[in-house]
Amino acid sequence: DMLRSGLTAGAGLALTQRAAADPVDLSFPRDFRWGCATAAYQIEGAVREDGRGQTNWDVFSHTPGKVANNDTGDVACDSYHRYRDDIALLKGLGVNSYRLSIAWSRIFPDGRGTPNAKGVDYYNRMIDGLLAAGIRPYVTMFHWDLPAALPGGWQNRDTAYAFADYAGFMAKTLSDRVQDVMTVNELACFTDLGHLRGIHAPGLQLPPAGVNQVRHHGVLAHGLGVQAIRAQARAGTRVGIADNIALHIPAIETAEHIAAAKRATRERNAMFLTAIMEGRYLDSYLAEQGAAAPKVQAGDMAAIGSPLDFVALNIYTPEWVRADDSAKGYAVIPHIASSPRMASPWLVVAPEVAYWGVRLVSDLWRPKTLYVSENGASADDPVTGGRVDDVDRIMYLRNYLGQFRRAVAEGYPLKGYFLWSLMDNFEWADGYGKRFGIHYVDFKTQRRTPKLSAAWYKEVIRRNTIV
Ligand code: NOJ
Repeated sequence: DMLRSGLTAGAGLALTQRAAADPVDLSFPRDFRWGCATAAYQIEGAVREDGRGQTNWDVFSHTPGKVANNDTGDVACDSYHRYRDDIALLKGLGVNSYRLSIAWSRIFPDGRGTPNAKGVDYYNRMIDGLLAAGIRPYVTMFHWDLPAALPGGWQNRDTAYAFADYAGFMAKTLSDRVQDVMTVNELACFTDLGHLRGIHAPGLQLPPAGVNQVRHHGVLAHGLGVQAIRAQARAGTRVGIADNIALHIPAIETAEHIAAAKRATRERNAMFLTAIMEGRYLDSYLAEQGAAAPKVQAGDMAAIGSPLDFVALNIYTPEWVRADDSAKGYAVIPHIASSPRMASPWLVVAPEVAYWGVRLVSDLWRPKTLYVSENGASADDPVTGGRVDDVDRIMYLRNYLGQFRRAVAEGYPLKGYFLWSLMDNFEWADGYGKRFGIHYVDFKTQRRTPKLSAAWYKEVIRRNTIV
């Protein structure tokens, strides 16, 4: 038959050919940071313990109909009690880094005031445990769990000041041991998903002026946070942001399409990373928003534009862009139904965004250092005989890593990669229905089991190359 004869012909050929060339070098630089990422509300549980204050996500997830299956973060992965097990998982993988977030309301239950010693102790134990395991902590100050007691939440400018006070205090508390700090995670999510689309806490659908003001308070919190951390933490503390910018791939790799994708990246992030990197809002953004443009006070833009030590990107799904002859000079191509997707409907698979995300941010703003603060995928993860052979996730990760490797090979300053996530956890409005972990969590028993992707990642790290 065809298959057999094809194989036989192939084998015959191989005997007469020279040996294949050396495999392409897919290794990473010696000092590359390999890690996993998590976030407090998604893993900790223990929401009423040791003086933790209520957050907007406690309120939202307890509002019927807001989260799939009415799941909440009340227990999550119970990491508040099991953090030693989690550190052991990290050690088992061989990572040299771990990105975690701090629950603001464990430190300041009402968002401000007197620090809660028990909350501080928890993170002290966590950081000490990581360091004892030889793992460098990367700490995110805000990953969406906002103390509910702050009046008006992100609609209130005062929240930005409260954040700065908290971030400065926490950075100071940890700075004898933590060298790398991220202010906030994913500006567009806690602003737009929460206040424009209403699908995340606090579930609002504000008019444009309200949304723009919330966005402004978000970047202001970041900027004031940078200043407070620099003022309070030990000299040498490195400060950055973990953002999920609107990412773009040029539809065709030619100069005109690349220029279009670069322009789209600058303009479509005008209210977030562009403002942070350039210290101003683009004229085109202000003109477009007109009367709905944010109200900016003296000194805000200087704070927002505070110099950073690194920029970290959460890289999942992009949009494709082509050059065109409109005034903007680019067109964003809507997602196509036939594009491959992982288990989350929004998660269109596009490995090239790993390269273009790093390259376009570098070309636009020349940050000294870049990290991938998140990359990963939801998958169905069938459990068969106690095993999860998640080859779809491995395929996804391997292909994204290949494109990060291209960026490194071309000299872009990408210094580390944090896989989302160490383990299955509370996936926000999707509850526990979408699994992103490389460890499977049985939420009834809290048992963690490595998936095949954990064995794969361990080998990548061990050999410092793509396998
Ligand atoms: C980005 C967010 O930072 C994280 O909290 C979330 O779970 C992952 N993306 C997956 O959606």
